Amino acid sequence: MPDNTAVIGAGIMGRGIALVYALNGARVCLYDAVSAARERAKELIDADLSLMVEEGLCTDAMRREALEHILVTDNLAESVGSAEFITEAVPEQLELKWQVFASIEALALPGAIIASNTSTLPLSELARYAAHPERMIITHFFNPAHLVPLVEVVKAERTSHQVVADTLDLMRRIDKVPVVLKKEVPGFIANRLQAAVVREALHLVHSGVADMHDVDTAMTCGPGFRWSIIGPLETADFGGLDTWRSVMNNLAPELDDSRTAPALIEELNRQGHLGVKTGQGFYAYPTGADVKERIRSRDLDFIRLLKLRNQK
Ligand SMILES: NC(=O)c1ccc[n+]([C@@H]2O[C@H](COP(=O)([O-])OP(=O)(O)OC[C@H]3O[C@@H](n4cnc5c(N)ncnc54)[C@H](O)[C@@H]3O)[C@@H](O)[C@H]2O)c1
Repeated sequence: MPDNTAVIGAGIMGRGIALVYALNGARVCLYDAVSAARERAKELIDADLSLMVEEGLCTDAMRREALEHILVTDNLAESVGSAEFITEAVPEQLELKWQVFASIEALALPGAIIASNTSTLPLSELARYAAHPERMIITHFFNPAHLVPLVEVVKAERTSHQVVADTLDLMRRIDKVPVVLKKEVPGFIANRLQAAVVREALHLVHSGVADMHDVDTAMTCGPGFRWSIIGPLETADFGGLDTWRSVMNNLAPELDDSRTAPALIEELNRQGHLGVKTGQGFYAYPTGADVKERIRSRDLDFIRLLKLRNQK
């Protein structure tokens, strides 16, 4: 376990990642360029930790120690200067990430591993101007990062074997379940699977087959219920591959195969409806209190699922 880590960007993902490292005993120097993000970071991390304490995932002493381990700073040199493992979690814009990596490389220790939490960008593209691409890797956490077990680890051709091995070791030490991609592909594994489902979900809504709520229920009470225990391929094995051959032959021609974002997502974007952050997405979240309550109940359910997994 590294003694010192850094997280760049104190947004949704950066805060969760900082919490994970701090709870596992590392010091975390959390940097953000925006003062509002820095000011709220500790309070929001504490809210997540407090729920973990309430639900028995950690003790109050561990919560306090984790908070003491996190230093929020407006000084990038202070953040990365002594870090052995650095995670970049700034917005998903390639040019911004290039700038951030250039600044990190100029200030980081020679042996530091520099990881990106990008959701979609290929590592070879992110590392295009890097002086030391062999030290760069992707560790793709999932929101909420402190509760979802998966981290996708993506290497590029120039990433060193040692960096991959050290990163996988670190992910296991922080109680995450890493999967490592054999080769680079946009969206990695999980976001490609999710995007395929969202495309078909909105196709069903758009074609008037079912409303949004029923589409969501069909997933959470059907495939989603099974998939948190057995993945789609093992599910197919249980169903029988003769049946799945018929299912795929009958359905493949029927499924949506459009090549752009679904019309409904485009339309909501045009209207400025971006989901919980604006109070309206597919569903309405009229007040800040509604959002807070929805996140809390979502996280409580995730914690129950996590406990079930940990018992196995
Ligand atoms: N939100 C998700 O569900 C999710 C899941 C997995 C991966 N990701 C990826 O994680 C990354 C961060 O996403 P997020 O949802 O946390 O975004 P966010 O907008 O919540 O947070 C980004 C933070 O970066 C800060 N920032 C902007 N420019 C900066 C700079 N130059 N230096 C330092 N900080 C800067 C912002 O002030 C903000 O606090 C993105 O690459 C995103 O694709 C997001």
